[in-house]
Amino acid sequence: MVTKMKEREVKDFVRERYGEIAKTRRRSSCCGPSAAEAAMQIGYSEEDVKNVPEPSIMGLGCGNPIVLANLREGDTVLDLGSGGGIDVFLAAKKVGPRGKVIGVDMTKEMVNRAMDTASKHGYENVEFRLGEIENLPITEHSVDVVISNCVINLSTDKEKVFREAYRVLKPNGRIMISDLVTEQELPEEVRKSFDAWAGCVAGALEKGQYLDTIRRAGFKNVRIVSESTYNIGVSQELSGKITSVQVEAYKS
Ligand SMILES: C[S@@+](CC[C@H](N)C(=O)[O-])C[C@H]1O[C@@H](n2cnc3c(N)ncnc32)[C@H](O)[C@@H]1O
Repeated sequence: MVTKMKEREVKDFVRERYGEIAKTRRRSSCCGPSAAEAAMQIGYSEEDVKNVPEPSIMGLGCGNPIVLANLREGDTVLDLGSGGGIDVFLAAKKVGPRGKVIGVDMTKEMVNRAMDTASKHGYENVEFRLGEIENLPITEHSVDVVISNCVINLSTDKEKVFREAYRVLKPNGRIMISDLVTEQELPEEVRKSFDAWAGCVAGALEKGQYLDTIRRAGFKNVRIVSESTYNIGVSQELSGKITSVQVEAYKS
């Protein structure tokens, strides 16, 4: 249980961490995998990586929600925690000029980076808004598909996030979420670590609890479409305890 004060501290820490990343992350680095290589390790194809502007590839996701989202021309799509915008730009190609993709992120530097990329590369059907996924700056019943990639684990109020996703979806709208969940209880020192929160681990829920949280928000037909053990950047102590899931659910 996270107290209100701790919630604020966690959120400020996460925002500061991703603000730094937005200002400094480059596609290639001297050591370790480049952001593009990291993106391919988590489910993006070489074609995906070639089809999006370079600054949007930051290697921050833990899956590829677009490949499973079955987006259609003309859809309105919302990306929760859009970061540099990789999934927004991929979705923009799928929904075409009649559709629209909106990214929401609470970190100003991320939103600025994504907006700059969109304008330099001439994307006309995308928009990035500064805001928290627990209080979405989006009108109700206006979105066909809500996507998200490795973000909801960072929230200290996941039920509120899913209730907000439910609110903004049109009737019969759906979510396709990539996220990290746990297979076992994590050690107390990991749960309490701010670094581990920002690293998408400490805030991860146990898999069953995660699915129940989505159901409590009102969603139906909640199901894991694919899952795999997630070990990228995970310490030896946590190896095998973290799973990347892609979850689909419907507002009916
Ligand atoms: C791990 S990154 C993932 C970025 C992007 N989805 C991707 O796959 O590259 C997490 C992003 O979520 C944003 N974020 C974290 N908590 C948030 C919240 N409560 N509301 C809005 N954005 C949030 C961060 O600012 C950061 O840009």
